[in-house]
Amino acid sequence: MKYSETVMDHFMTPRNVGEIPDADGHGMIGNPSCGDIMEMFVTVKDNHIDDIKFKTFGCGAAIAVSSMVTEMAKGKLLEDAILISKKDIADALGGLPPKKMHCSNLGTSAMRLAIANYWKKNGMDDKIASHKHLIKEAEEENEEKGQDEKSCCSTERGDGQPDCSNPAKT
Ligand code: FES
Repeated sequence: MKYSETVMDHFMTPRNVGEIPDADGHGMIGNPSCGDIMEMFVTVKDNHIDDIKFKTFGCGAAIAVSSMVTEMAKGKLLEDAILISKKDIADALGGLPPKKMHCSNLGTSAMRLAIANYWKKNGMDDKIASHKHLIKEAEEENEEKGQDEKSCCSTERGDGQPDCSNPAKT
């Protein structure tokens, strides 16, 4: 399966790349199947995501996923943004090759952890409790073992598809 035009667009011109120095929430996650890393920063206004940015050391699919996550989450109520799933992102991107579906975990999990971090910093334990399963799911992404080694972005190089040489790596 080739990457869709939407994936290529978000990979070539990723939206919301960078860091927010005084972010209200910060999430960071590593992908255990390939060792890639994602960071997400959010600022919050009136319980909505006012701004969101990401930094990653990841493959082209991870860049496109993260870019799409930021586009979809920006302006949303925190309680709605945290519900965005890896399937929502893959669908919005016009699909991802099966071996790249795990890459979509990076963006959604980092975003969920950034929201949870904001709630924690502000003593909003009730929000954390009511979204416990989503936050736990994101935390567990760091701990999963035994994934398919072939999913590593290094297998993509040289075939004209997004590889590890990307503009959003920092
Ligand atoms: S995030 Fe590592 S291969 Fe995609």
